[in-house]
Amino acid sequence: MCGIVGYVGAQDAVPILLEGLHRLEYRGYDSAGIAVRTKTALKVHKSAGRIDRLEAKLPRRLKAPAGIAHTRWATHGEPTDDNAHPHVDCTGDLALVHNGIIENGAALRAELAAAGHTLRSETDSEVLAHLIEDARADDLEGRVRQALTRVDGTYGLVVLDRNTPDRIVAARNGSPVVIGVGDKEMFVASDVAALVRHTDRVVYLDDREVASIRSTGFSTTTLEAQPTQKNTSEVVQSAAAYERGDHPHFMHKEIYEQPEAVERALRGRIDREFGVAHLGGLNLSARDLLDVRRIKLLGCGSAYYAGLAGAHMIERLTRIPTDAEPASEFRYRNPVIEKDTLYVAISQSGETADTLGAVREVRRKGGRVLGVVNAVGSTIARECDGGIYMHAGPEIAVASTKAFTCTLVCVALLAIHLGRIRDLSPSDGKRLLAALERLPDQIREILDQGEAIRGIALGLTNRQNAFFIGRAAGYAVALEGAQKLKEISYIHAEAYPASELKHGPLALVSPTTPTVAILPDDDLYEKSLSSLEEIRARRGPVIAIAHEGDERTAAASDDVILVPRSEPVLDSILMTVPTQLLAYECAVALGRDVDQPRNLAKSVTVE
Ligand code: F6R
Repeated sequence: MCGIVGYVGAQDAVPILLEGLHRLEYRGYDSAGIAVRTKTALKVHKSAGRIDRLEAKLPRRLKAPAGIAHTRWATHGEPTDDNAHPHVDCTGDLALVHNGIIENGAALRAELAAAGHTLRSETDSEVLAHLIEDARADDLEGRVRQALTRVDGTYGLVVLDRNTPDRIVAARNGSPVVIGVGDKEMFVASDVAALVRHTDRVVYLDDREVASIRSTGFSTTTLEAQPTQKNTSEVVQSAAAYERGDHPHFMHKEIYEQPEAVERALRGRIDREFGVAHLGGLNLSARDLLDVRRIKLLGCGSAYYAGLAGAHMIERLTRIPTDAEPASEFRYRNPVIEKDTLYVAISQSGETADTLGAVREVRRKGGRVLGVVNAVGSTIARECDGGIYMHAGPEIAVASTKAFTCTLVCVALLAIHLGRIRDLSPSDGKRLLAALERLPDQIREILDQGEAIRGIALGLTNRQNAFFIGRAAGYAVALEGAQKLKEISYIHAEAYPASELKHGPLALVSPTTPTVAILPDDDLYEKSLSSLEEIRARRGPVIAIAHEGDERTAAASDDVILVPRSEPVLDSILMTVPTQLLAYECAVALGRDVDQPRNLAKSVTVE
């Protein structure tokens, strides 16, 4: 949510900053801006709209050895030129970009205005520039630290000062900041995606840390000016992993690379001999896990829906009572934390503020949390007691796809691991692991139906509304399918448990409202088929996602997408893939901005 890039070094900062902004555009895309320090002045250019509009406005000869830039997702104040970052102080000598929310921004604004400052935007971020202007420490780092003591809230920020040559200052509290270490040049960003073309050596700032970044190196302190020691990490992903390649959209790429992503999620984790899953990062022994009496999965949006599907897997294979809850609700309801409950936080980005808040709430109260996280080194990954990395590779499209399927693969591994400590037999373990290993090829089979699914999706494009239904884990797939369709095609879509249809929503089923039915050939099959008949009796069009060879469902539906048979507990993984393609093809046909849908942004780092 919002992207920050900064540069100091021997090269011209401008193209580096712009290229970095493009790589972070998925983080926010309603306005953008850049500030550079030339030999004589600080120059700031900002524009509402996408980064292309900013580029078009920049003077051709703009060149500088240091600069900062920002792409915004509006929280306080509409996306206008004035509200775009960087924000400057009254002198125009100091510019700043900020991610996060300053909770006492309104009070500080009033105080600064009363003291004679002129604030030009409606943002909470601008107060930071004026607070630094008023700070009286000897150097820029000290002024930034002093200003931040006045602030309640979250920030990832980078400051550029005309009077402090060869240096930019960054600070973090609750919003990621990563320094990229180059050769006689240094980078800073809110996300490694902006750095990978320049360096694979990065340093993650911790909360309440301030960094002074020069072309030749950096130093860090706490907010209290105590020096801190930092380790340099290596970015394992290649720059190509962040590129769209020949795909028309990142979402297309991410849907179609799911077979390889699932292979990576499984790699090194399967023990065929004993039918067990190796999950080295759990940091919990078999004895610790034997004491677990309840499991709760936490996540937001699609990560929560993955949690719902995952809870079915775990409960089924372990018989440990398991449920899922939106992390955003959990963290604020003063939850009771039980010592024999295992909490599992699911997050692609590892930076979602609400999920991080839930993790902290659990740990504050003495609970144990595992993370199922994609972004290596992210805050959630670092703050959990242990966890499982998805290894899905960077997910750039705002709508999550491969992270959803890889989450389910990781949760299935966790379920097998826990099950084998309990009643799951070695042969059951082996059978389930073999089924997991078949998934990549089975996903390929579904992807091969892309053309046919496009044809079905075209039938959705002139609809105003759609229902998605399913039972048990199929309901979680329905929720995820509806989420994908609405967020990228803007067609209103709602998911219901199929069993709930006749308790209300059936009133809205009509020839103009299609239903996508998740209908695996499992022990609820007959009941699901009856729900389908109820829809057909009201002449509601039906698109069924069913198993290969299921002729009865095919006969009872207008369209059917068939997926390969697997272990029933893994059906939710395969049945999700057609819903992704339906949403994608529908959005493309409607001419939507598939990768950057309106009002949304990747990685929701504000509450
Ligand atoms: C939907 C989507 C969001 C995210 C949610 C959590 O396609 O991507 O609902 O799933 O914002 O994000 P992470 O997984 O990064 O915590």
